[in-house]
Amino acid sequence: MTTLSLGPLSLGGCTIRVAACAGLLLSLLAAPAIAQNVQRGAELSKPCAACHGADGNSIAPTFPRLAGQYEDYLLHALRSYRTGARKNAIMTAQIANLSEQDFRDLAAYYARLKGTLSTVRN
Ligand code: HEC
Repeated sequence: MTTLSLGPLSLGGCTIRVAACAGLLLSLLAAPAIAQNVQRGAELSKPCAACHGADGNSIAPTFPRLAGQYEDYLLHALRSYRTGARKNAIMTAQIANLSEQDFRDLAAYYARLKGTLSTVRN
C-alpha cells in the first residue's frame, strides 16, 4: 500500500492513503483562504446573540432565526448587507467591521447550530 505522510499538514500525525486523500490534500493546498472556522464564528457571534439569541434561535419575530439556516444563504445575506443589495440599518451597522472571513466563520457557525425551524435538506 502506498502511503503519504502529510508532514506539517497532517492532522494528529496521521498517515493517509494517497488515492483516497489526494483530492482533500489538493483542496487544502489550493484553497486555504476559504476554509471556515466554526470556533472563530462562535467567538464572533457574541454580539449577535443580543438579537438573534444565544443559540441562534431568536425569540422575537423582529429578529430572524439563524440557527440551522443554510450556510450559503447566511453568507449571501451577510454579503448583501455589505454591498447594499439588502438594506437594513441595524444589520449594516452590525457587519461594518467584519471581514469576508468573519462572514464565512459566522455562517459556518450558525448553520451548524440546531434550528427550531425546519430546513429541507438533501
Ligand atoms: C441589534 C439587533 C441585531 C444584532 C446585534 C444583529 N442582528 Fe442580524 N438581524 C437583525 C435584524 C433586525 C435582521 C433583519 C433585517 C432585514 O430585514 O434584512 C437581521 C438579519 C440578519 C441576517 C439575515 C437573516 C435572514 O434570514 O435573512 C443575518 C445572516 C444576520 N442578521 C446575522 C447577524 C450576525 C452574524 C450578527 C452579529 C455579527 C448580527 N446579525 C447581529 C438584528 C440584529
